[in-house]
Amino acid sequence: MQNSNVKPLSGKLGFIGGGNMAKAISEGIVRKGLIRYNQIYVSGPRLENLVEWQRKGANVFSENGTVVEEADIIILAVKPHILPSAIANMFDTLSQKPLKSKLFVSVIAGIPMQQLENVLCSLEGCRLIRVMPNTPMMVGEGCTVFSPGQRATENDIEIVKSILSVSGVCKQVPESLINAVGALSGSGPAFVYLMIEALADGGVKMGIPRAMAVEFATQTVLGAAKMVKETGKHTGELRDEVCSPGGTTITGIHALERGGVRAAIMDAIEAATLKSIELGEKKHCTMKNN
Ligand SMILES: NC(=O)c1ccc[n+]([C@@H]2O[C@H](COP(=O)([O-])OP(=O)(O)OC[C@H]3O[C@@H](n4cnc5c(N)ncnc54)[C@H](OP(=O)(O)O)[C@@H]3O)[C@@H](O)[C@H]2O)c1
Repeated sequence: MQNSNVKPLSGKLGFIGGGNMAKAISEGIVRKGLIRYNQIYVSGPRLENLVEWQRKGANVFSENGTVVEEADIIILAVKPHILPSAIANMFDTLSQKPLKSKLFVSVIAGIPMQQLENVLCSLEGCRLIRVMPNTPMMVGEGCTVFSPGQRATENDIEIVKSILSVSGVCKQVPESLINAVGALSGSGPAFVYLMIEALADGGVKMGIPRAMAVEFATQTVLGAAKMVKETGKHTGELRDEVCSPGGTTITGIHALERGGVRAAIMDAIEAATLKSIELGEKKHCTMKNN
């Protein structure tokens, strides 16, 4: 579907790693008409795991170096512990021809910009932007932040913004915030799925058929999020509007507070942020060429 407000990308987009995040990013931009699948180049160790990409018209490879050579923008979308082997494969499979300058975009949780820049600086003219996306990009409701590296240009920033903002909210933040944002909006969808499941389970316990309970729990979370976004009211005010004195909702809120739900959610964001910092401290860049 072509969206008249977006300017299609003329170049080629590469993904090193064709998993969930790569799919979430590409689905959104293809659906909005920013790019076609035949402009997308994806690599991974097992071609059989890339057949879905191939079926959609993307170009698939088992050599990461080929994607780097072919694409203008390369999105690093492997798991953090896989990064050293992915980078090693990239350097091993680059052919001898000099590379044009490339823009790398890392969506990898935890790995600091400096570590990646150290590794990629041996590729002449390469620039880096660190991004923290989330999977709801797939349905056009993403929440993404990015931080440009030292060598990224204004044009690089504009291109990355145009790719990310067609699929939801996209904001520039200092790199120091990326781990915390990753915990909140990168991991956040998983936390919310768990809450939807728990709401539905509660409904089932009280006799609502499962399918109906899941539908109502989902619509309730969607509706509540829209109320916060569209009314601009403080969440406390919105909550008060639902809680009549001595009523059912305040009784439920009391049960939630007694269960420590607020502290548990805050703990989850703290734990995910600290895990991200720990991943970055592991020195993943004992990588080749560093
Ligand atoms: N998922 C999220 O919600 C989310 C949110 C924010 C950030 N992120 C970040 O996004 C990155 C990717 O996460 P994901 O959820 O997309 O993971 P994923 O679904 O496991 O995808 C990773 C992909 O990397 C491929 N791969 C493995 N070894 C490789 C190698 N040596 N070279 C190239 N590709 C290789 C895998 O291929 P095989 O399957 O064939 O092994 C797989 O397709 C992570 O660093 C994560 O921190 C994810």
